[in-house]
Amino acid sequence: MGTKRRFRVWRGDSSGGDLRDFEVEVNEGEVVLDIIHRLQATEAPDLACRWNCKAGKCGSCSMEINGHPRLGCMTRMSTFAEDETITITPLRTFPVIRDLVTDVSFNYEKARETPAFAPPVGLAPGEYRMRQVDVERSQEFRKCIECFLCQNTCHVVRDHEENKEAFAGPRYFIRAAELDMHPLDARGDRKEFAQASQGLGYCNITKCCTEVCPEHIKITDNAIIPMKERVVDRRYDPLVWLGRKIFRRDELEPAESMAPSTSGGVTGVAAGTPLSSARLPEGPPVGPDGQMDISEIAAPLQGGLSPFGEDITFPLSPEQVVYHHPEPEKEK
Ligand code: SF4
Ligand code: SF4
Ligand code: FES
Repeated sequence: MGTKRRFRVWRGDSSGGDLRDFEVEVNEGEVVLDIIHRLQATEAPDLACRWNCKAGKCGSCSMEINGHPRLGCMTRMSTFAEDETITITPLRTFPVIRDLVTDVSFNYEKARETPAFAPPVGLAPGEYRMRQVDVERSQEFRKCIECFLCQNTCHVVRDHEENKEAFAGPRYFIRAAELDMHPLDARGDRKEFAQASQGLGYCNITKCCTEVCPEHIKITDNAIIPMKERVVDRRYDPLVWLGRKIFRRDELEPAESMAPSTSGGVTGVAAGTPLSSARLPEGPPVGPDGQMDISEIAAPLQGGLSPFGEDITFPLSPEQVVYHHPEPEKEK
């Protein structure tokens, strides 16, 4: 027989909601998703929550636990103090459908906008040959389970609905990097696409996405920074510069099939931001001694720093839980 522990769970839908208090039995070895299942089996049979595998592999059970974006099925109850009230809220960056279920279609739209792998000309599947080192490099990015915790955490879109059009987010920067590093991908415009249409320049390398990734993908170090460096390298490459002097731009850029930026937002060509205004890569924040803040090294990989800020205590009061709930599209 387990012990009773206190929980606060956000309940509501796109029109609003609030935190409800529950006392639920907790047994040894259980995870937060077990508690949600027990709630559904007892006091709250209509509590909505997405899940599938309960093994950290499907990416469905993303939620915020005490303000930290996490997988419910991989968050052990033993990591909390016995007397702690545990606050469970839906992902903040996406509109709520009901209770803990959010509408993550923003991510699918960004996936659709990302040009697919372009098969090498003159080779059929089965004839592709790659060196193991190239396979290993992109394999890290293929571990992504599309939990969207990184997308939820990124400050560029968290609470900034207006930035979503112009910013694809860390999950799609790793996809862009994976394809750009793919030795058989026939497209040469991945870097330009990332900068002009995916909003790569808007990322200021805070590493929050990396800290919350349950697959421990080094999103910032291994995908975003190399992509930013490639954008800059290409711009300052003397051969590219000379080529630009000799040839017209449209003779140089293999961009004929690249989707133009449709951005009306913060960055991108269509937003009036010329490509030459790209930000240079910035290093992580360092202290006066030139060393990285200890929290960068000491933060547990899977919880990361709280996007609520470290001065907030839990449980949250209902007034502190404000979700960005964009108006659902009106019927045309
Ligand atoms: S490193 Fe870039 S993509 Fe990742 S959370 Fe920070 S701003 Fe967003
Ligand atoms: S990169 Fe990591 S955090 Fe982002 S969607 Fe993939 S698995 Fe989740
Ligand atoms: S239920 Fe599949 S990742 Fe949690």
